[in-house]
Amino acid sequence: MCGIVAYVGHREACPIIIKGLKRLEYRGYDSAGIALMNGTLSVYKKKGKVSELEAFLQDKDVHSNIGMGHTRWATHGEPNDVNAHPHFSTSKKIAIIHNGIIENYAALKTLLISKGHTFKSETDSEVFINLIEDIRENNHCTLAEAVRLALHEVVGAYAIVVLSKDDPHQLVAARKGSPLVLGIGKGEYFLASDATPIIEYTNDVVYLKDYELAVIKNGELDIRSREDVKQTPYVQRLEMALESIEKGGYEHFMLKEIFEQPRSILDSMRGRMISASNHLMMSGIREFENKFVNAERILIVACGTSWHAGLVAEYLIEDFARIPVEVEYASEFRYRNPIIRETDIVIAISQSGETADTLAAIELAKSKGATIFGICNVVGSSIARTTDAGAYTHAGPEIGVASTKAFTAQVTVLTLIAMIIGSKRGTLETSKLHGLMAELENIPAKVERALKLDQQIQEIAEKFKNATNFIYLGRGYNYPVALEGALKLKEISYIHAEGYPAAEMKHGPIALIDEQMPVVVIATKDGSYEKIVSNIQEVRARKGKVIAIVTEGDTTIPAMSDFVIEIPETSEHLAPLLSVIPLQLLSYHIAVLRGCNVDQPRNLAKSVTVE
Ligand code: F6R
Repeated sequence: MCGIVAYVGHREACPIIIKGLKRLEYRGYDSAGIALMNGTLSVYKKKGKVSELEAFLQDKDVHSNIGMGHTRWATHGEPNDVNAHPHFSTSKKIAIIHNGIIENYAALKTLLISKGHTFKSETDSEVFINLIEDIRENNHCTLAEAVRLALHEVVGAYAIVVLSKDDPHQLVAARKGSPLVLGIGKGEYFLASDATPIIEYTNDVVYLKDYELAVIKNGELDIRSREDVKQTPYVQRLEMALESIEKGGYEHFMLKEIFEQPRSILDSMRGRMISASNHLMMSGIREFENKFVNAERILIVACGTSWHAGLVAEYLIEDFARIPVEVEYASEFRYRNPIIRETDIVIAISQSGETADTLAAIELAKSKGATIFGICNVVGSSIARTTDAGAYTHAGPEIGVASTKAFTAQVTVLTLIAMIIGSKRGTLETSKLHGLMAELENIPAKVERALKLDQQIQEIAEKFKNATNFIYLGRGYNYPVALEGALKLKEISYIHAEGYPAAEMKHGPIALIDEQMPVVVIATKDGSYEKIVSNIQEVRARKGKVIAIVTEGDTTIPAMSDFVIEIPETSEHLAPLLSVIPLQLLSYHIAVLRGCNVDQPRNLAKSVTVE
């Protein structure tokens, strides 16, 4: 949450920072600001999108080769010009941009007020910069030293960059718990919350570690620990194509990402499965193969859409590998004194790899000696680096705030894992395994076919764009898909939606059904087909409007539904990879028809780095 960008070098800093902030806007978009060294230390900030800041800068002198910018997702203090970053210290000699939360800010603020510091905003970040100023004045030390000492005083999470009027060629940055990537160009340096603002200029990056401090001064980079020990940076070469972070002709990133799924699903299997030669392999699993094969229990921790992928994995792993699986909301897990054993394997699923609740759940499980396996999309992210082993989903950057291709990539990787463990344990018959592998290989082409339903789904969206409530029903493997469909709709269209296991409806939610209620039923041909037919009858008897997702060629359910969306036939184990596609498209089109900002829905941010 919150995006930060900074630049120092030979180019104009302002356009680089504004462009970078636009790339990071998925992380927060309630206000934005920039600090530049143009004779003095100038700060410009505005409530609203980065484009509003850009318009505000039109008549300002923004010439500078050094600067930093921020796009905010409010935690402390409402979104307005004053609470927007950067924040000056009381003397206005230094300024900060900050991503994260300082938990002991209230106590620090009281102390700083008693020492004469004054505050304009309600933010914890302004406390941080005043703390740095206080330390610098009291210790008569350099800015870098003051920042380093301040890191010992603050509790919480941060990625910060600090600029000082007295050191016009210097950037000081530090991180703990919030991501910060440093880009190294020829005579220039970049800092950003992720690599997307950087890769246009350089592919050489350093992921700062927790409690590291980077000082860039007069073209030199110096990285130190909080204990002031010099660190040797590990420079990584990033293989990220610029096109992957641009809209490529689509109206929204979300639509682009939905349509990328045939490729992203293929990428998540690439090198891991070739059905013709019965090749099935995942390096992360191989390392811990014995642990997986002998595991008495697997715990899955995740949030939101990733948690839904975890639910699919529960069904897959229990079915194929016969190992008990528990799926936990990461946010609940750490606060409820869970039983975690050394023999447990904890699978943490996260697109961003930065979700604070998931990170905290991992830390708890680690402290109890469990083996942690991460499934992340963002390469080099905090979760990817903190786990014992893992597998990247290789879906490519997901920029739309609503997760789409990350979900199908996670489910693909989890399917492979369930197949590998099942086959190693001997609980998944070879003939069934080979059949599943062959069918999984067909999935990208079938997703391609499901995407052809776009126009038809748009027409259905038109009919329901003014609905105030929706119910999504599914059974078995399609139950998590019902939850995911409901989440997609509510987060981008702001229509209230509930997902339920279809049979659970009669235990309460059925009371909601009347002629106004659209009910999306995922009713593909599988083991519970007959049962879901009965559930549809129950909805119809109460005059609910049935939108059915069925298997191509089905004639029974279409005869009892108001609207029908036919998807290609597949194994019930792989159904979520196909049945989620029309639901993503339905929520997308409804949101567009309602005039909502689908890529940046209100109140949300892509990576939730606060608890
Ligand atoms: C929904 C969505 C969120 C995320 C959740 C976890 O579309 O994007 O529910 O799935 O915040 O995020 P990650 O997977 O990055 O840990």
